[in-house]
Amino acid sequence: MSYAYLLAGENLELAEDELRGFLESQELETRVEREGRLAIAGEPMEGQLKRLALTHEVSEVIERGSIEALDLKYRPDSSFAVRAVEVSDEEHDTAALQEKVGEILGTGDNEVDLERPDEELRLYLLEDEYVLARLMEDIDRGLFEKRGNEERPFQSPVSLDPVLARVLVNLSGVKPGGSVLDPFCGTGGILIEAGLCGAGVHGLDVQEEMVEGARENLEVYGVIVHDVREGEVRDAGKIFDQKFDAIVTDLPYGEASKVEGEPVEDFLEVAPELVNGRIVFMSDRENIGDMEPEHEIYVHKNLTRYVYLLQ
Ligand SMILES: C[S@@+](CC[C@H](N)C(=O)[O-])C[C@H]1O[C@@H](n2cnc3c(N)ncnc32)[C@H](O)[C@@H]1O
Repeated sequence: MSYAYLLAGENLELAEDELRGFLESQELETRVEREGRLAIAGEPMEGQLKRLALTHEVSEVIERGSIEALDLKYRPDSSFAVRAVEVSDEEHDTAALQEKVGEILGTGDNEVDLERPDEELRLYLLEDEYVLARLMEDIDRGLFEKRGNEERPFQSPVSLDPVLARVLVNLSGVKPGGSVLDPFCGTGGILIEAGLCGAGVHGLDVQEEMVEGARENLEVYGVIVHDVREGEVRDAGKIFDQKFDAIVTDLPYGEASKVEGEPVEDFLEVAPELVNGRIVFMSDRENIGDMEPEHEIYVHKNLTRYVYLLQ
């Protein structure tokens, strides 16, 4: 059985990699076939799907075929609704296709019910092919806004957007029950998202104010078990004395954020010693030494961020 993941359109490569990291975190096959906004992959674990930040909905694939022939075999047993969704750059007549498929699927024993259907079906339109699928999860991205900087008890302009923070956590592939370290935790944005995905969270920040603020923020969002300490990144090995399953962080930006020393260089030196799994970090630098970023994220005018993946 295969599953269709409708990705958010703004950065498809990042959304696809987030999905791969998510599948890895669920110990599932990470092979993904993508055309436009639709990615087809293996069976997800129900209940874990809300981990995805750059996927709008997930559906179980029923059948695929040519849009021209529209030779559908499936017939629902009871009430249903079909929505056609364009996922490639092609411009099909979605309304007409939706109506036609509704008629084809209709039998004397079922009926179209747009209000409360027993089955919500999707007709994803690729360039020449359709994918008929049964909706499993409509992921409400509005929930991320409830954790935005302005909603939190402790706020700071350095705070990372919750959607991006969640994407970084998923890129790390950390499993529920795994451990995550953010050695520049600031207000705790990444730790909140990691904690909500079921990871054990460990944070470090050189500023006492941030350490106290991150703890407060974590607890407000229900991440009551946490380990946030005050200290310098270069001392992280001594401070924690353990290895983590992943390091996920957002590096200090520019000279202004430099509290002391050379935090980025210190981080790159100590991080590999602290982790068994992957290191994922975001930076404002397009190149760091001979490292190239995996993704470029256009945040808004004059603000681009780069995502690096190590190991
Ligand atoms: C970009 S902010 C992190 C923001 C965080 N992701 C959030 O959502 O709030 C970088 C943080 O690194 C901390 N920092 C700077 N130099 C540091 C160092 N040498 N060791 C540990 N933390 C440091 C700063 O205090 C700041 O809170």
